[in-house]
Amino acid sequence: MEVRWTGVGPPRLGSPHPAVSVLLSALFGVWSIQALEMSVGKIPFLEAVNGSTVTLPCTYFSCIGIKNLYFNWQFNESGIMQKVCDSVIASEGVEPDVKIYRDRVTFVGMNRENNISIMLWNITFDDAGQYTCFGINPKEKGKNHSAIFNLIVVEELRVVDKTLTIIIASCVGGAIALLMGFMLIKNFTLFVLAKLEEKK
Ligand SMILES: *[C@@H]1O[C@H](CO)[C@@H](O)[C@H](O)[C@H]1NC(C)=O
Ligand SMILES: *[C@@H]1O[C@H](CO)[C@@H](O)[C@H](O)[C@H]1NC(C)=O
Ligand SMILES: *[C@@H]1O[C@H](CO)[C@@H](O)[C@H](O)[C@H]1NC(C)=O
Ligand SMILES: *[C@@H]1O[C@H](CO)[C@@H](O)[C@H](O)[C@H]1NC(C)=O
Repeated sequence: MEVRWTGVGPPRLGSPHPAVSVLLSALFGVWSIQALEMSVGKIPFLEAVNGSTVTLPCTYFSCIGIKNLYFNWQFNESGIMQKVCDSVIASEGVEPDVKIYRDRVTFVGMNRENNISIMLWNITFDDAGQYTCFGINPKEKGKNHSAIFNLIVVEELRVVDKTLTIIIASCVGGAIALLMGFMLIKNFTLFVLAKLEEKK
């Protein structure tokens, strides 16, 4: 297999060879790490009961470092983005002075390990919706980055859907059963063969 790259411009889209795709995504992966990244974690939503207190997680990461990083949290109030809080982080590890624009909100991230999470106290059904964690690193000439976290407010927590667990359990169970069956048959066959051997 040979991967040649002689073109100057971006590669033609369509369906490139798998090897090329891998190469490309590796390249783009490396490039995108250079920029600022906002992250709300692997699970970008939370289901919580009204009246409870929740943390909306967000961290940032930048390969080139940050200086005077502007960040805010926004809440999508029926299509209009309302600022929840904002601040400028002078540099990594420095605790920023955060302005809060919404009731029952506390800045809890404290910029510890790039943590800019907020806490929402005594949530109501009106607090449900989309929260955007937004950041601009002046080092990147005004490019902005954001991540969205969804808050779902429920009257009571539903019973967790166990389907996936059951599927996994039965897969594992099935595999074990299959293995045991195989061992049994194998041992039985060996036993029969041994018996036959004895009789000769
Ligand atoms: C949550 O909402 C339900 C229905 O509106 C209400 O009965 C209940 O008291 C609320 N719980 C809290 C902790 O506010
Ligand atoms: C949350 O509710 C509790 C109990 O009702 C109250 O004591 C507390 O002050 C509330 N916190 C905020 C930030 O509103
Ligand atoms: C960010 O800070 C909050 C509050 O201290 C904490 O609950 C959360 O685990 C932290 N997140 C990360 C990724 O460190
Ligand atoms: C974020 O960047 C986009 C383009 O990348 C621009 O359209 C948008 O206005 C910017 N938002 C803010 C708040 O600067």
